[in-house]
Amino acid sequence: MSNSIPTFETNRLIIREMKSKDVDIIYSFNSSESCLKYIVREVFRSKIEAIDKLNFFLDGHKKETAYWWVFTLKDTCEDIGYGGLFDISDEHSRAEIGYGILQKHWNKGYMSEIIDEILEFGKSSLSLHKIYAYILDGNHASIKLLENRGFEKEAHLKEHSYTNGKYWDETIYSLINK
Ligand SMILES: CC(C)(COP(=O)(O)OP(=O)(O)OC[C@H]1O[C@@H](n2cnc3c(N)ncnc32)[C@H](O)[C@@H]1OP(=O)(O)O)[C@@H](O)C(=O)NCCC(=O)NCCS
Repeated sequence: MSNSIPTFETNRLIIREMKSKDVDIIYSFNSSESCLKYIVREVFRSKIEAIDKLNFFLDGHKKETAYWWVFTLKDTCEDIGYGGLFDISDEHSRAEIGYGILQKHWNKGYMSEIIDEILEFGKSSLSLHKIYAYILDGNHASIKLLENRGFEKEAHLKEHSYTNGKYWDETIYSLINK
């Protein structure tokens, strides 16, 4: 059995279930150094890495520990990013949120449109008490996006993750649904 993942429609976007055909958007995003600047991950050099990542995401669907969506522009049908809720704990009613948009589409308000749908789904349909994100220092767009929706800085983790030859500090931002 796997999760039933709804489709959402906003003014400019369709937010649809990630499927096994979605290698290209995962590769496009993860092969861009700018897109990964604030993500603890090495840049993908081949589509095989994207296929592995996609299989990992889809495994989350099967295990019912994740909901992943691809974000598609309504007017051009272009896939511009992806994201979702993952590491879902039913016991603790909490999940992590993650997202990314291709660089040429940044700062047009797309992620703001998308995240409201995902947060509402997490709150209303999954009854999540807490949704949290790990953010690297300097990711001002992501911090603004979350703070605008009531997320608060909860913890600063020193040298918490290692990638690209160094340890990175990460900050947890969280939203408690009351
Ligand atoms: C983070 C990210 C998803 C934001 O997507 P986006 O569609 O560009 O976001 P929006 O246009 O909806 O902007 C969100 C808010 O951030 C602000 N913002 C955007 N870029 C900014 C920047 N470089 N510095 C400061 N604020 C910024 C916007 O003004 C907006 O705030 P406002 O509504 O008060 O005006 C996008 O930058 C991205 O994909 N980055 C790479 C991947 C990543 O870092 N993911 C998050 C990992 S935690």
